[in-house]
Amino acid sequence: MLPQASTLAKNFDILFNNIFWFSLISFALVIGAMIYFAIRYHRTRRDPFKTPYITGHHLMEISVSVGLLIVVMVIFVWGWVDYKKLLKAPSDSLEIQVLAKQWFWEFQYPEGRKLTNELVVPLNQPVKLIMTSSDVIHSFFVPNFRVKQDVVPGQYTTLWFTATQLGEHSILCAEFCGTGHSKMLGMVKVVNAEEFQQWKKTTPSIPAVSKNPQEWGKELFSQKMCNTCHAITTQKLVGPGLFGIFGKEVELEGGKKVARDENYIRESLMQPQAKVVKGFPPAMPTFQGTLTDEEVNALIVYIKNLK
Ligand code: CUA
Repeated sequence: MLPQASTLAKNFDILFNNIFWFSLISFALVIGAMIYFAIRYHRTRRDPFKTPYITGHHLMEISVSVGLLIVVMVIFVWGWVDYKKLLKAPSDSLEIQVLAKQWFWEFQYPEGRKLTNELVVPLNQPVKLIMTSSDVIHSFFVPNFRVKQDVVPGQYTTLWFTATQLGEHSILCAEFCGTGHSKMLGMVKVVNAEEFQQWKKTTPSIPAVSKNPQEWGKELFSQKMCNTCHAITTQKLVGPGLFGIFGKEVELEGGKKVARDENYIRESLMQPQAKVVKGFPPAMPTFQGTLTDEEVNALIVYIKNLK
């Protein structure tokens, strides 16, 4: 068996083992009963001319149907409870941007440190990955953590885990993405908290430090003229003020409410008319094709930190 190297791994294995053993035992019982009945009630062993005609057995049929429904619902609810845990990252998570490309993984830390195919994380600290792809669909998979999530171009998906075992854990791509798919491998390196601080201090440039995304986002915000329509306070200009909006709900034209998360900001940049905030004109131009994935990420980090 693979090591259980994250807090979620144990839950996943318990559920998986329960379904596996339930299925295996059921399979053996059904096949066993079929063989038994085939031999026991073989026509020639009894009266070769009289096979009793059976019309049904209501009690038996209903109890089998209801019994199996209960089993399926137990598995469904159990799976749902575990799945919910997988969806919502703890608020104190270390956030790392993941950019999947044909055929490698790029990890960018909040301070701008960028790593290729290697993700260094501290032990027992929740880590949230905010992932997107620059070409086709990939899938981020760490078998030892029992986590897997599709990485899709043009939108963000997230994944979180808390590593509970020091050492190296493989990252695989679990979605066929072209000829280099099988070579799209990486490694999660789990170190303890002091080692992580040490790693941040002593090796600030493995392999290269790029721009701090928050500062870069700030530059872009004025370079791309975002500031002509959006204040970084709560003040209303042509568009809504952006102070403290991240993660909060907002009412749109038409009364629908949505959360302003990473996907919302990306969509607002690429298809500004898709969701227009109530009380504002649909005046924003699209930035489709004029902002790279890295630039969109930087703007998101900048907006996220306006609080
Ligand atoms: Cu990326 Cu397969």
